[in-house]
Amino acid sequence: MSESTRARLTGYPNGWFVIGWSDELAVGQILTLHYFGRELVLFRGEDGRANLLDAYCAHLGAHLGAGGKVVGCQIECPFHAWRYAGDGRCVEIPYAKKIPKKALVRAWELREHSGLLFMWYDAQGRAPDYDVPALTEWADENWTRWTMSKLRIRTHPREIVENVVDKAHFPRVHNTHVESFENEFDGPRATQRTRGVAYPVGGGRDQFAIEATYFGPAVQYSWMHGVLEARLLNAHTPVDENNVDLRFGVMLKLIGSAEKTRMFAERYAENLTLGFHQDIAIWENKKYREVPVLCDGDGPIIKLRQWYAQFFTGEPPREVEVDDRA
Ligand code: FES
Ligand SMILES: [Fe+2]
Repeated sequence: MSESTRARLTGYPNGWFVIGWSDELAVGQILTLHYFGRELVLFRGEDGRANLLDAYCAHLGAHLGAGGKVVGCQIECPFHAWRYAGDGRCVEIPYAKKIPKKALVRAWELREHSGLLFMWYDAQGRAPDYDVPALTEWADENWTRWTMSKLRIRTHPREIVENVVDKAHFPRVHNTHVESFENEFDGPRATQRTRGVAYPVGGGRDQFAIEATYFGPAVQYSWMHGVLEARLLNAHTPVDENNVDLRFGVMLKLIGSAEKTRMFAERYAENLTLGFHQDIAIWENKKYREVPVLCDGDGPIIKLRQWYAQFFTGEPPREVEVDDRA
C-alpha cells in the first residue's frame, strides 16, 4: 500500500445492535445518535415506548433532535412544528388542512428489554430473523443492575468479533491462563466456553468458567462463574465504516449487602475496561489480514469468519484502497 493510500473498511453487518441503555432515555426525552453513518433520533413518548427515527424532517430537512420536542407520543420538528409518530408518519401539521402522503421519515425497528435498547439494521430493509433473548437477572432483586461503560473505537466490528475464537491472545494480551477452550457455531449464535485462571490488575487470582454467546453479529452476553457470579454485556454498534461504539455492562449476583456488591461491580467493570483497552491498543493499530497465516494452536478463526459473513447482505467487508488526495 503506498503512503498516499490507507485501508478503509466497507460494509455493515445486518442484525440487532445496542444503541443505548433504557435508563438514559426518560419519558419525554430525545437523544441524537449517529449509527450506520446516519443521523438518528431516539425518543420516549408518554406511553413509555421508545422510538427511533431518521433525524431529518421530511419537510425542509431540519434536525428533529436539534430543538425538537416530544409531545404526547410524537416528536415535533423545531422548524415548522410538523409532528411525527413513532412509526415515522407525520400526523399533524399545525397550518395545513391535508397531510401530504410523503410526509414521513424512516422509522427503525426498536426493542427494549434487559435494560437495553436494540435497533434492527438490515441493509436491504428485511425484517428481523432472530431474537436477542432477555436476561432475567436484570429484573431480579438478587442481582445488581448494570454497571455500564461506553467507548468509541477506531476499528471495524469484525476485529472485535474475532476475540471469540482467538484463544492465543488471552495469555499474551489479558494475562489469563486458559485451561480449556471450545467454540460452537449455531445459526446466528457463536459461543465460546473457557475455563482458566485470571490474574486481575489489582492482584489476586480468579479461577473462572465463562460461557460467552454472540446473538447475531454485535451483541454478546457472558455467563461468568468465578469468585463472583456475573453477567456481562459486550455490544458494538457501527458509528460509520471506521468507528464503533463499544458498550459493556456488568451485573453481579448480590453477596452480602447491595452496596458492597455494587462496589465490586464497579471494580469488576474497571477491570473489564482495562481488558478492553488491552484489546483496543491492538485493534486500533492492526491491519486486517484477509488471508492470515495460522498455526495449529490458533482457535477456529476461519470458521468464525464464515459465521460472521452470514450477516452481510452481499460481499463480506473488505479493504479497499482509498486515495487520501481525492
Ligand atoms: S423542516 Fe420540519 S417542519 Fe419544516
Ligand atoms: Fe481480548
